[in-house]
Amino acid sequence: MKDVIISDAVKYVGVDDKTIDLFESQYKVPNGVSYNSYVILDEKIAVMDTVDKRATAEWMDNLEAVLNGKMPDYLVVSHLEPDHAGNIQLFAEKYPDAKVVLSAKAAAMLNQFFTIDLAQRMIAVKEGDTLSLGTHTLHFMMAPMVHWPEVMVEYESSEKILFSADGFGKFGALDTEEEWTAEARRYFINIVGKYGTQVQNLLKKASGLDIQTICPLHGPILKDNLGFYIEKYLKWSGYEPEEEGVVIAYASIHGNTAGAAKKLEEMLKEKGVSVVSYDLARDDLAEAVADAYRFDKLVVACPTYDASLFPCMEDFLYHLKIKAYQNRKVAIMENGSWAPMSGKLMRAYFEGMKNITICEPIVTIKSTVKPETIAAMEEMTEALLTK
Ligand code: FEO
Repeated sequence: MKDVIISDAVKYVGVDDKTIDLFESQYKVPNGVSYNSYVILDEKIAVMDTVDKRATAEWMDNLEAVLNGKMPDYLVVSHLEPDHAGNIQLFAEKYPDAKVVLSAKAAAMLNQFFTIDLAQRMIAVKEGDTLSLGTHTLHFMMAPMVHWPEVMVEYESSEKILFSADGFGKFGALDTEEEWTAEARRYFINIVGKYGTQVQNLLKKASGLDIQTICPLHGPILKDNLGFYIEKYLKWSGYEPEEEGVVIAYASIHGNTAGAAKKLEEMLKEKGVSVVSYDLARDDLAEAVADAYRFDKLVVACPTYDASLFPCMEDFLYHLKIKAYQNRKVAIMENGSWAPMSGKLMRAYFEGMKNITICEPIVTIKSTVKPETIAAMEEMTEALLTK
């Protein structure tokens, strides 16, 4: 079991998954992911969420080691997504006297996932309800759409611990040596990014609590400098950029649009601007989306393909749209050898988003970069960098 110390009474029983290829069948996790689960040992014993079915055996070993022959009284279910709820049925069968504590919405959905009838063993809780375990008391707060409708979080008031469900989670197994922010951002923007308002509502509720430890369902337990993490969450969920700088996201078939993007990168760097470039055909889409949120400016460059966008750009813009991308400055470069269309199509995406300033002119590349293209890029850059 991972040597994760929370307190004498609150134990970690989660599992690292370093063999999963894609989290949620879409996100690359080169350093794996953790499915966190906790046990509160008191007069009554509460298990806080289960783990993905991929990790059943290790989780059960961890749980039994911590229980040391005792029987759990409660399983608290924060979230029914299978990466956390995958072992509810197994738990319920193994510990037939344990009650399952969950939100009313989770209670309504539970039998969609399992074949066991838990109707007589469920305790449905609502906003503000509490559950005393002895010296520990859980306070329940509903957190709809962070990141499913049935989600709730729990605040344990004696040790001031927030069990934050997916909130404050991160990709990467617990033994990964990496700073928190990049993988927490990639996780948040791509998984919860659409639900900024709901996250802000939860943060507002949590701001009234004295929180000393955050125990999320993925990633490290957070104990120090909590203001840093909360500040990041306020920015991300408020769709505010973290930094000044430009993301250049380009799609290129034969390298000419890539050449234009590289030229633009040089021009911006010469002006002292921070630039991060993504080749959308090859780089991680989720990272490109996350960095588009991180910086305050975005340039997209794409050839026309079948009178449409080259598919990886369509995919990128679709992701920005469904993740509610907003409040940014955007510049557009299109390429087309005989009938350039991609600029108009990219513009249409951004016109459908909230508070996006499109910098003029749209640069049109006819096959390859020429002196007149550079002149247009300079004009576009000027508009992009003007406050
Ligand atoms: Fe980690 Fe929404 O599940």
